[in-house]
Amino acid sequence: MPTALQTATALDADWWRQAAVYQIYPRSFADANGDGIGDLKGVTSRVPYLKALGIDAVWLSPFYPSALADGGYDVDDYRDVDPKIGTLEDFDEMTAALHQAGIKVIVDIVPNHSSDRHTWFLEAVAAGRGSAARERFHFREGRGAQGELPPTDWTASFGGPRWTRVADGQWYLNTFTPEQPDWNWDHPEVREDFLRTLRFWSDRGVDGFRVDVANLLVKDLPEQLPSKDELAQLDRTSGTHPLMDRDEVHEIYREWRKVFNEYDPPRFAVAEAWVETAERRAKYASPEGLGQAFSFDLLVADFEAGQFRSIIEQNLEQVRATGSTSTWVFSNHDVTRHATRYGLPPLAGRTVKQGVEWVKAGGPGAALDRQGGLRRARAATLLMLALPGSAYLYQGEELGLHEVAQIPAESRQDPSFFRGAEWDGLGRDGCRVPLPWTPQGSSFGFGAGGAHLPQPDWFAEYAASTQEEAAGSTLNLYRQALALRHELQGAEELEWQDTGNDQVLAFTRPGGWLSVTNFGNAPVQLPDGELLLASQPVHGRTLPAHTTAWLRA
Ligand code: GLC
Ligand code: CA
Repeated sequence: MPTALQTATALDADWWRQAAVYQIYPRSFADANGDGIGDLKGVTSRVPYLKALGIDAVWLSPFYPSALADGGYDVDDYRDVDPKIGTLEDFDEMTAALHQAGIKVIVDIVPNHSSDRHTWFLEAVAAGRGSAARERFHFREGRGAQGELPPTDWTASFGGPRWTRVADGQWYLNTFTPEQPDWNWDHPEVREDFLRTLRFWSDRGVDGFRVDVANLLVKDLPEQLPSKDELAQLDRTSGTHPLMDRDEVHEIYREWRKVFNEYDPPRFAVAEAWVETAERRAKYASPEGLGQAFSFDLLVADFEAGQFRSIIEQNLEQVRATGSTSTWVFSNHDVTRHATRYGLPPLAGRTVKQGVEWVKAGGPGAALDRQGGLRRARAATLLMLALPGSAYLYQGEELGLHEVAQIPAESRQDPSFFRGAEWDGLGRDGCRVPLPWTPQGSSFGFGAGGAHLPQPDWFAEYAASTQEEAAGSTLNLYRQALALRHELQGAEELEWQDTGNDQVLAFTRPGGWLSVTNFGNAPVQLPDGELLLASQPVHGRTLPAHTTAWLRA
């Protein structure tokens, strides 16, 4: 028999398995000093709100010193706080307040690239070609008589060339922007330095890490490099592609796991890895590695029963093989908000694509069905919160916020907008606009000053303070759902129920928790059981269109 203490520790080590994790984009959450930029003191001031929301953990997007060439994913110093948004003392204060409220803290680690202002990169540029300092990055000579052409014709993720030239003529590799030089992960000092960073934050009481583009770290860059066209032909599923998802990357995470396990409870990690197949993804979720990996399958699906069912089945099957838990996510700081995606006219293809089409077109115009989109988003979220596994929520979705399209070019910040990334049109600023806390005030209560991205007038209707008072608001739906989820959640199991209607998905969780979603356009009969919560008002025993209900079966 385990002792009571052992049982408590084991439970604590598993806190992440079915956690509801709320993503904070720190510069857009709450601004305590009124300079227009959200800060750590702002997060601390909103801990009561987070506690009332009922989440288990927050994940903070990068808050490290940064010139913000990519919203903070260009890190100057991995072991400090950006003076624009606080200090290490503010961080400790915030962590203490969150822990006091029973909320775990997850920070974002960006290991594929630093920023061009990182000490080691400045040193590398100054030290010149052939220097040891340059070995920590991927420096190369260019092609052409004078080396005036980049080493290859590869395109960076946000558009433009994947190589940038320094004053002495050499080029360095940048998968994203030129301000984000890629680390050379074959270099022992790079590896050591990240272990130091993991310990630095773990020692400060951080409970876990979200690992940015976890699949890109290791590269195979021989003398002869393939061209862009040749690269496109290479297999991405065998672990041998020169630039992504190479098998050797897991050696790094095995080392990281040892560090995580130095702590009690072990530190948690979740991989952001947009890889080709479920099998490839599972490697990142291995208990000898990071332990959990994001699944973006639901995020790229349409609001459609068949797609939802098969994605849920597949994902649950995968985690049975790895011993991890499923992750579910509809929105984050990189994609068009799901209320908006679901409000766009159906297109052939996927909803993420719809979001892209929408932003490319310059905004929704009359085509966006705001109400219908939010209605479907609420139904989808309530379904997600009944699923076994972790639910990842993105700040503002609990207010039912839509994407903001109307941001003038001169106010935009996202490099993917300026660099003409192929995969995006208006870029990602529209989901990063500072939150509306109150219906009035210079920045809708975000702070005493302005907002670093302009907030539209319609934000007033979505203010948190108004929604707190309104019974059927999206905020109250999230609060009630998260509270019930705590109460009802048991074993990580799900049993599908036959509904006799292919537009209606129903499943039970152990203990008689029944979730039923009507994806169809016509109302249906509600199954037997006590109604606990619904994403729309329910009258009698009728489940309206595009609605989820929870019942006690
Ligand atoms: C990840 C982040 C994204 C960032 C990119 C480069 O995909 O989520 O915001 O731009 O990595 O770090
Ligand atoms: Ca501020």
